[in-house]
Amino acid sequence: MSESNPNEAVTAAYDEYLMPIWKELDVPIERADGCTLVDFEGNEYLDAFAGISVTNVGHRNEAVVDAAKAQLDEFVHGCSYVHPNKPAADLAERIAEITPGDLQKTFFCNSGTEAVEGAVKLARKYTGSKEVVALEMGFHGRTLGSLSLTGNKSYKKEMGPTLNDVSHAAPPYGYRCSMCEGAECDTSCAADIERVISSHTSGDIAAIVVEPVMGEAGIVVPPKEWLARVQEIAHDHGALLVADEVQAGYGRTGAMFASEHYDVVPDIIPQAKGIANGLPLGAFTASAEVADAFEAGDHLSTFGGNPVACAAALATIDQLEDGIIENARTEGEWLRSEFDSIEEDYDPIGEIRGRGLMWGVEFVDQSEMGPQNVAPAPDTALATAVSDHLREESGVIVGVGGFHKNVLRLQPPLTIERDQLRRVLSGLRDALDAVA
Ligand SMILES: Cc1ncc(COP(=O)(O)O)c(C=O)c1O
Repeated sequence: MSESNPNEAVTAAYDEYLMPIWKELDVPIERADGCTLVDFEGNEYLDAFAGISVTNVGHRNEAVVDAAKAQLDEFVHGCSYVHPNKPAADLAERIAEITPGDLQKTFFCNSGTEAVEGAVKLARKYTGSKEVVALEMGFHGRTLGSLSLTGNKSYKKEMGPTLNDVSHAAPPYGYRCSMCEGAECDTSCAADIERVISSHTSGDIAAIVVEPVMGEAGIVVPPKEWLARVQEIAHDHGALLVADEVQAGYGRTGAMFASEHYDVVPDIIPQAKGIANGLPLGAFTASAEVADAFEAGDHLSTFGGNPVACAAALATIDQLEDGIIENARTEGEWLRSEFDSIEEDYDPIGEIRGRGLMWGVEFVDQSEMGPQNVAPAPDTALATAVSDHLREESGVIVGVGGFHKNVLRLQPPLTIERDQLRRVLSGLRDALDAVA
């Protein structure tokens, strides 16, 4: 590594030795603590993206680090499906406690995409059915099974064919939706799922797979009754509701699981991202009745239920329950009123929406209309310019996403403090003043 510019040395090695996949931020990290990232030259950044919404209890959270270290000193691997380990047993019991309703049994894997695919296999096994309905704009991962559920062609380009027994229905994207009669969102978009089932499928439906708050789509928050209506539709067709909480779960929206805001007990909940605060772990959880459809040999993962990751997850859950979810809730409420005034002050902001510490700022070009003439055109360039300005001038890291890549994503560690949020917001105003 070059002494003169150690940051560039890391990115140069990426260019030479890693496959040329998107690296959006170009901020190499040498150390991280709480909400602070430090690069190889000692520059500090305020992290308002948490490694794509993962380090929910803060970078290098002491309790999580200690739990992982203690387990490292015991043993690292035995395959939890060959040799039962206590952290996996304890974590599964804990997940049964924190998931809504009668959800009880968990399968452990290593990532979100595996959790989603496993959930679909379980739904198929339980229902004896085949087809799956997902949502346009939804994101469920990039391996071929999950990619088929992902409702965004930009992820699929030159990667097909994916599974052909998946159909997509309209998302609950109120800002760019013309389905509801009144000014307020209702559940008309849920009714589109009925339309798609009757027009695009054989009717042999295993699952409807949705995100209770859509992350990659641009932080799309459904109307209150939507999720319950979707579950009703699923059950009417003998199918299960799979609520993909990979991104929205583990405190992100100010509740342990976002489904709680909608008073819905999903049939299966895939989880990952925040579950172990950055150690690789995925899971999906179902009621005993549904879970027991799996028989020995139906599914397995060599690394799934890794004891170090499970020990970290147990500590993460303790930390979340020890005031951190509460912080996400209260800071989220404070942000809501702050965002209201920012939205009023800046024309290029089409909508700011979110819940807890999961927020999206959608940028638009007011001079032209966007798709279907429902709302102003997405302004992708502005979202990138604002993110760049925040990083370069204010030292604040945010994400850029959304179906049209015009949404700034604020998804910081849930430990973030009011003063740090003030810094993010003043950086956002500065950026808009400079580049909008
Ligand atoms: C809702 C949702 N599901 C699944 C995934 C895939 O997770 P992973 O990248 O861990 O495979 C993601 C990742 O962003 C996600 O947001």
